[in-house]
Amino acid sequence: MFSEQIIVITGGSSGLGLELGRRLAAEGARLILIARDRQKLDRAAQELRSCHGGTHVSVESLDVCDEAATNACMQHIADVHGRIDMLINSAGILREGYFEKLALMDFRDVMEVNYFGLLIATRAALPHLKASRGRLVNISSMAGLAGAFGYTPYCASKHALVGLTESLRYELEPEGIKVHLVCPGEFDSPMVDELECYRTPENRAHAQTIPKATVATIADATLDGIRADRFLIVTGRATRLAAFANRHFPALTRVFGDRTIRRVRRTRA
Ligand SMILES: NC(=O)c1ccc[n+]([C@@H]2O[C@H](COP(=O)([O-])OP(=O)(O)OC[C@H]3O[C@@H](n4cnc5c(N)ncnc54)[C@H](OP(=O)(O)O)[C@@H]3O)[C@@H](O)[C@H]2O)c1
Repeated sequence: MFSEQIIVITGGSSGLGLELGRRLAAEGARLILIARDRQKLDRAAQELRSCHGGTHVSVESLDVCDEAATNACMQHIADVHGRIDMLINSAGILREGYFEKLALMDFRDVMEVNYFGLLIATRAALPHLKASRGRLVNISSMAGLAGAFGYTPYCASKHALVGLTESLRYELEPEGIKVHLVCPGEFDSPMVDELECYRTPENRAHAQTIPKATVATIADATLDGIRADRFLIVTGRATRLAAFANRHFPALTRVFGDRTIRRVRRTRA
């Protein structure tokens, strides 16, 4: 399905973006990885080329919050490759902490990358996705479907991108663009390694009510969902169960969450 497809992955140098890149490279896709750190991008591209000889992988060092640079980059990709078949928006950042201790800048930074960065990349790729009748894949999170302790900036940004993607779907599907909204629970990645250095115990217990998954299982579930043309891709049985419970029995979900947080606080007291 992905062979010879021109696929742009923001956040393609690390974590889920890179793991999706590994699978897509194995299927013969032509990949363009976008992130800010040039060295990390080069390492990722080298790994993909060495594992899948003959794979085309190029990199673009770019901050997706920079609208002019992102527009120019997408146009450059379309000029060089002739089209863009799929944009995967995986670039994201995380800040966790007690609401009262977080700075206003934490909220702005997270919204800037997770929401506006994705919006900017999507707008820049849109004319090319229209031309190819391609696919848009937005990586949100279970934190875009439910609240979580310590995630006030992150949940707000991921809820915003759920609303954006739900609305965009109505506009883009008639134009022939398939839209996918991916909502994973927590999985192992450099983002979570960094989080482990400072996260609140309440956040760890609450977020890991759904057991942490491997990035490999999240990438497989994401690609299965794309192949099946599913709009909402909630990855893994436990996360699907949590999403179902949150949607249909939100009061119950809150009771469980409150109890988890009380338990953590009792053991700390
Ligand atoms: N890990 C989890 O448990 C989890 C759960 C649910 C959803 N998600 C979501 O899944 C996506 C991938 O997360 P991950 O865990 O794979 O994170 P990760 O390993 O930290 O990767 C994040 C990627 O985004 C890039 N990036 C960050 N800010 C950027 C910017 N302004 N412009 C361009 N690129 C930028 C990073 O590279 P540079 O820093 O070099 O720019 C990196 O390539 C994120 O959207 C995240 O919110 C993660």
